[in-house]
Amino acid sequence: MARILRALVAATFCAACLGDYVEADCKEADSPGLAFIQAKALARDSAAAKKEVEYRWSSGRGNFPDYGVAKDTAPFDLPARFAWSWSHPLGRFHTLTYGTVIDHLSNVYLSGADGIRKFDPSGKLLWEYASLPAEMMDAPSLFNGTIYGSDTHGNVVALNMEDGKVEWKTHVSDAICQDNGFTMAKDGVVLAASDCREPSPNGESNHLVKALNASTGKQLWTYAPDTAIWNFLPLFVDEGDFVFQDMTGKAYRLHLHTGHVIWKSGGKEGTWTDGSAAVGNGMVFAVNNNHMPPNAFYSEYNPGTLSAYNLSTGKLVWKVVTQRPPNNAPAVGKVKNLPGMSVVMPLCQQVQQGAFCDVHVYNADTGDLRWVFHGPAQAGPYQAGDLEGMDIRRSSGVRPTCLPNGWSAPTIDAEGTVFVGHEDGNFYALRDMDGDGTIFGDDESQIYDTKAAFAGSSSPAVAPGILAIASCDSLFVFKK
Ligand SMILES: *[C@@H]1O[C@H](CO)[C@@H](O)[C@H](O)[C@H]1NC(C)=O
Ligand SMILES: *[C@@H]1O[C@H](CO)[C@@H](O)[C@H](O)[C@H]1NC(C)=O
Ligand SMILES: *[C@@H]1O[C@H](CO)[C@@H](O)[C@H](O)[C@H]1NC(C)=O
Repeated sequence: MARILRALVAATFCAACLGDYVEADCKEADSPGLAFIQAKALARDSAAAKKEVEYRWSSGRGNFPDYGVAKDTAPFDLPARFAWSWSHPLGRFHTLTYGTVIDHLSNVYLSGADGIRKFDPSGKLLWEYASLPAEMMDAPSLFNGTIYGSDTHGNVVALNMEDGKVEWKTHVSDAICQDNGFTMAKDGVVLAASDCREPSPNGESNHLVKALNASTGKQLWTYAPDTAIWNFLPLFVDEGDFVFQDMTGKAYRLHLHTGHVIWKSGGKEGTWTDGSAAVGNGMVFAVNNNHMPPNAFYSEYNPGTLSAYNLSTGKLVWKVVTQRPPNNAPAVGKVKNLPGMSVVMPLCQQVQQGAFCDVHVYNADTGDLRWVFHGPAQAGPYQAGDLEGMDIRRSSGVRPTCLPNGWSAPTIDAEGTVFVGHEDGNFYALRDMDGDGTIFGDDESQIYDTKAAFAGSSSPAVAPGILAIASCDSLFVFKK
């Protein structure tokens, strides 16, 4: 009898595990000597604590509070660890792919111009949500059994993680711009950029931040920053607040439930950056370009600024001028063989033939430069995969080019290795083993050639034993 009961309990739990529950519940239920009554109590508690499920990489930039930083170690030797990839079944140029998230069971979700797809850990397609003619150019995020994204027709969309069915779809504006932002959710609230229109220092851009109820899709509040936003990346911080930057590099801290401004700071008026903010070390890091290029002539040496603001007060702590444009979000964490916290900053003027791209690592306390990776230059007139796929993409109803940032956003893994994708297709693992401040040789850099650039909302996603990244047209997964 006891045996049968235990089997029944285990079966109940494992059915639940296929749904919203963490794997740990299965293991507990399987453990010998667990009484039926205890199991039922546990089941009740688990149901009540359902919202507590922590996904392994729940947004394009990972998890609160350490965005851009993985709890797990990702494989350094990328070519040897390649496990599987996904491209559109009709050919890689039939869609554009943007952002990856990973749930508690290591399923991988991928956003793309034509919708969102879910894959099991071995690469089997589980469902797809078709969005065309609206394109989903942001990185989605996971919260409480739902995946959230937004589309270019002005909708914020909530899909059931199990089957991809629409839970709600809220039309928040006529259009959401074709940049690569992040739709983020926490504490029952979803944040998305909206109101795509002129004017801004960079043409049509999103002018509003919208907060929606994660369960119902009802709009809660709207906030208009001083200048339009580009590649909107809100990051949750303590005390029910979040931070983000606008396209001039002005940083904002707002209350999540009301949209009330706690502080705003910095920025260079009239400028545009393809970059976004980061948090860590008690600071907010924001980036800006120092001037708009005269006559739209972009130089690979167009200088920018990386600024560190006190997270509680918004006061500037330090800033450094970067020798190349800081055109993506930094990552803040512990970098291999360096003491304390570091800021990993991708620098590049994209879409410029012959322009080199670097990755700089700064001391997060002071802004002192710690190491440099001198990356490759863009070889052709366009970034990898862009020109070749133009006609096919146009005929498939997605935008013809990816035209992304020079680098993906970077991720730092648990051992301090930096993972980042370059516009000519190489996906890099970088670490300074000999402490000489440069990255050089096979022991310090490993490369996997994806043959396409990486969108601004593409960011290496890391979960135990698995690393996933989307190039502009395909998903690549590496395993330990
Ligand atoms: C969302 O809506 C539900 C149902 O009306 C409500 O119970 C909940 O408090 C709302 N959450 C937020 C964050 O407004
Ligand atoms: C999580 O989703 C369930 C429904 O599946 C809902 O009852 C619950 O209120 C949600 N929790 C939060 C924090 O939104
Ligand atoms: C931020 O400001 C507060 C209040 O002045 C101070 O206590 C804290 O040390 C500052 N943190 C950093 C990282 O500068």
